Amino acid sequence: MDWGIANRINRILKPSTGRTVMLAVDHGYFLGPTSGLEEPRKTLEPLLPHADSLMLTRGVLRNCVPRESDIPIVLRVSGGTSILTELSGEGLTVAMEDAIRLNACAITLSIFVGAEGERQTLLNLARLVDEGERYGIPVLAVTAVGKDMVRDARYLGLACRIASEIGAHLVKTYYCEGFAEVVRSTPVPLVVAGGKKIPEKDAILLAWNSVRAGAKGVDMGRNIFQSDSPIGMIRAVKAVVQENASVDQAYGIYQQARGGRK
Ligand code: R5P
Repeated sequence: MDWGIANRINRILKPSTGRTVMLAVDHGYFLGPTSGLEEPRKTLEPLLPHADSLMLTRGVLRNCVPRESDIPIVLRVSGGTSILTELSGEGLTVAMEDAIRLNACAITLSIFVGAEGERQTLLNLARLVDEGERYGIPVLAVTAVGKDMVRDARYLGLACRIASEIGAHLVKTYYCEGFAEVVRSTPVPLVVAGGKKIPEKDAILLAWNSVRAGAKGVDMGRNIFQSDSPIGMIRAVKAVVQENASVDQAYGIYQQARGGRK
């Protein structure tokens, strides 16, 4: 692996643990001003010191992240569809030279295996990997799940394996029963998305189960910024991912941060 790619991956997956807590705030690229992210700057400010890396679009990066921040950026470079249309028809939305200008540590796009846009989004991935290899920038493939897809180990294993075969350096997917098998059959690091908001203890358990099964961390958004204590949640998830805390220990961190309220 090229030194630049390896070094950028090491900024995202912390060398002391090989893991990351990636804070995902890119949802607006197809959802618009989603709950908790109406004002990205306000959401981000208190959370940035706790995150290991940050997934977002160039618009939010340029306008809402302080320039003095040294957080590694995972820049979303796909889009072109909205929640109102067929999501799987994504194209590429950022030129590699702009990603470099923004000092991205990695670039990311969604692939839609089994959906209408499967072929195009897989070809998007292939193109980005070629460009990423040319400039030393790793590519994180997001295995987006269509409305009718079942999130089971067979389907997610298929999507993750295809992404890594095409050359993705990192893959983001969902946790599922039998997740260790998805990890085993994907020869690059996996991070797990949080998905829709669930009770805080369940989200902490999801992070715990994921890293125990071999994930290299989480790429979590709504279960952090839609929580009644976003700081409590990111600290709890970080304790699980980076410090091997138990679910109860981490839940205690969340509860303490929200002031012991039930
Ligand atoms: C979804 O397409 C976005 O890429 C999100 O970054 C991803 O789903 C992770 O966020 P959440 O934990 O809210 O699912």
